[in-house]
Amino acid sequence: MSSSFSQSVVSWYDLHGRKNLPWQGGNPYHVWLSEIMLQQTQVVKVLDYFQRFIKSIPNLKELAAADEQQVMALWSGLGYYNRARNLHRTAQICVEQHQGELPADLTALMALPGIGRSTAAAILSLAYEQAEPIMDGNVKRVFARHFLVAGEPNKSATLKRFWQLAEQHRETARPAAYTQGLMDLGATLCTKHKPQCDRCPVSNSCQALASDVVAAYPQKKKP
Ligand code: ADE
Repeated sequence: MSSSFSQSVVSWYDLHGRKNLPWQGGNPYHVWLSEIMLQQTQVVKVLDYFQRFIKSIPNLKELAAADEQQVMALWSGLGYYNRARNLHRTAQICVEQHQGELPADLTALMALPGIGRSTAAAILSLAYEQAEPIMDGNVKRVFARHFLVAGEPNKSATLKRFWQLAEQHRETARPAAYTQGLMDLGATLCTKHKPQCDRCPVSNSCQALASDVVAAYPQKKKP
């Protein structure tokens, strides 16, 4: 069962979402590598690094066997270098424990270095078409507004509510389109400043819009 919220996001994705990113296509290695790069780096910058990385190291088994030096050189300039060390270590663990593949299971993915719940869910939905919900900064903004979630986005009570809503609004028919659509909606229409509610596929059910408080959500710490 999918909710009408998720179905509207998927229909919008089919018309307006991003479909030509080089990591799209369902290869789990590509999805994982891109999600790690995108954790702290913008899409435009990731594009070049991603292409260079997969040209030098085209799959998980070659990554596991690569020199640490080569991995660090390919990451050089991206910052947050623990991401590269965790990437390398995770590839080695997958070879040792998971037949050289990224596991298609939430608990097993979250046990790997550098993979939290949202990154695990992005891999499961984008590469394996499993209906696991993600929750990154853009998605928190969409949820805070649409479902009028009060509180600072990274406080534990607020996070708990976000995850609860995300679980209630899983998309079972088109998990990959829903995940990418939610991220694209947050990145292009439901932006921090000047959101384009007139073009939003879920504006008719947006609680912040109905109360004319879109700009006040997600809520900030009181001074
Ligand atoms: N940020 C994190 N994951 C992303 C993705 N798959 N597409 C665009 N931006 C992202």
